Amino acid sequence: MYTRFQLAKKYLHYYLSASNGKGHGTHSPFVFDFIKNVLNDKNTYPAYQPIEQKRKALLKDPRVIEVEDFGAGSSVIKTNKRVVSAIAASSLKPKKYAQLLYRMVQYYKPTTIIELGTSFGITTAYLASANTASKVLTCEGSAAIASIAKQNFDALQLNNIQITEGDFAQTLSPLLSKLNQVNFAFIDGNHRKEPTLLYFNKLLNHATPASILVFDDIHWSSEMEEAWETIKQHTAVTLTVDLFFISIVFLNADINHKQHFTIRF
Ligand SMILES: C[S@@+](CC[C@H](N)C(=O)[O-])C[C@H]1O[C@@H](n2cnc3c(N)ncnc32)[C@H](O)[C@@H]1O
Repeated sequence: MYTRFQLAKKYLHYYLSASNGKGHGTHSPFVFDFIKNVLNDKNTYPAYQPIEQKRKALLKDPRVIEVEDFGAGSSVIKTNKRVVSAIAASSLKPKKYAQLLYRMVQYYKPTTIIELGTSFGITTAYLASANTASKVLTCEGSAAIASIAKQNFDALQLNNIQITEGDFAQTLSPLLSKLNQVNFAFIDGNHRKEPTLLYFNKLLNHATPASILVFDDIHWSSEMEEAWETIKQHTAVTLTVDLFFISIVFLNADINHKQHFTIRF
């Protein structure tokens, strides 16, 4: 895992070298459309507010829960007894990114969505409310965390979410075996190279030519960056968009030569 200083340096480099998507750097009509209609969509959708209220409540939640530590998920807290507010502060995807995922689901309308790493279900809620006709299958290893996520889904009256509890190593394959296809996936748990590549390959087996895979924090460590390089090189991957804190893989069959973009967001 990179130190805060290394990460800040990397972010600065990203920020200064990334394209703003407006110049001659963006030759892909698909990416141009993504930037214009999804990335830079500044609308405040009604679904945002109730989910952000839940986030606020979690950030103040004093409950202490017993949490299993899976993989390299948290660099901040080491003990197994944790305060909900502290987990919320370190684990949840900030609203800027969760709302981008909302807009992606709203725009591309994937029907089967997988999330690896539910935590308290804040991003899950965004994914599920962006298209209520979709089914969101979210996976979480910690039973105590999953239980709070379920309370949030009920309170937000989201009926298109199914949560699977247990280590991804045990739950992902059986879950995928019941599905014909995965149209969208958000991989946000167990930030290590081998598991990330394993999840990528498993998801790829169920992907369609229009599937979208979103990876969290691929600049978090050198091994995650290695995983990202391997993913980019895969023959099924036609287009990648790196936004630093999340990185997007499009398997868009209409794009006939590989393109990688780093875009400022
Ligand atoms: C960064 S949090 C997810 C945040 C959530 N996607 C959001 O944006 O609100 C990662 C979660 O993945 C879970 N996790 C990590 N590794 C796991 C594994 N191998 N199996 C199951 N769950 C795991 C952790 O318990 C943690 O709750």
